[in-house]
Amino acid sequence: VSAPLAELSAKADVLVEALPYIRTYRGRTVVVKVGGAPLEDDSHAAVMARDIALLTMVGLKVVVVHGGGPQVSQAMKVAGIEPRFIEGLRVTDDASMEIVQQVLAGSINPRLVSHLGAAGVGAVGLTGMDGRTVVATKSPGELGRVGTVSRVHTALLESTMTAGFTPVLSTVAVDRDGGSLNVNADAVACAVAVALGAAKLVFLTNVDGLYRDLGDEGSLISEITAGDLRSMLEGLSSGMRPKATAAVEAVASGVEKVHILDGRVRHALLLEIFTDSGVGTQVIR
Ligand SMILES: Nc1ncnc2c1ncn2[C@@H]1O[C@H](COP(=O)(O)OP(=O)(O)O)[C@@H](O)[C@H]1O
Ligand SMILES: [Mg+2]
Repeated sequence: VSAPLAELSAKADVLVEALPYIRTYRGRTVVVKVGGAPLEDDSHAAVMARDIALLTMVGLKVVVVHGGGPQVSQAMKVAGIEPRFIEGLRVTDDASMEIVQQVLAGSINPRLVSHLGAAGVGAVGLTGMDGRTVVATKSPGELGRVGTVSRVHTALLESTMTAGFTPVLSTVAVDRDGGSLNVNADAVACAVAVALGAAKLVFLTNVDGLYRDLGDEGSLISEITAGDLRSMLEGLSSGMRPKATAAVEAVASGVEKVHILDGRVRHALLLEIFTDSGVGTQVIR
């Protein structure tokens, strides 16, 4: 009788261990940028959706921002367009922009909304064009219909959350003239986190975290200051450069902590937010 009872108590201990974290983050905003595994794999998405359900039900305000790079590249190949990148940023002509919108707003976004719904979260799918939430300026140079965020209007996100719903934002932005621009999802997540005064910005990605030297397994960084990360930016390649840039900027602009986590790790979100044992990389002031 005593063994199972001890096991049961241990389960309750886990819940109690979360108590100080719940107290700290209740009522506060966490922006979760979804990339990597949860976008590609329904079982990862389902686990993540339940993590987000738990966060919202203990009183955290969660905003989901998603990318969809590989899925956009795939759809472009099907359409006969070869994806091109400059420093990790996608080159987007008018035909590609149409595909970006179809994939992000028409396919990935409703899939995430549906997973969250199945987990009991009232999720609302939005693009950056809705409510002029994400206003961007077209980037100079050869990137095409690619912009950088110039402004975030938080009214629609805030009223959605006040009404008890969880916004799921795809990263199609609006320019001054009402046209659409493709904006890097890491940069949008950063701008949204800053505009909402978020306590945390979490990147769910396809790698264990930030490596000092990608390819050297022992060089995974568990904690780094924004200042040290800033000095690493030049050396980072592909998708990690915009993510690390966003992390540096978010922390410099008031977000308390940024986490770069592997979306394939079961319950990475809960482990990171509700326990002492962090997974992945955290970026601090
Ligand atoms: N120093 C580094 N540490 C970790 N990942 C890195 C590093 N440099 C480059 N990367 C690359 O960045 C990728 C993550 O970015 P990306 O593919 O855009 O993911 P996401 O979909 O989450 O935005 C990793 O898979 C890895 O190939
Ligand atoms: Mg990326």
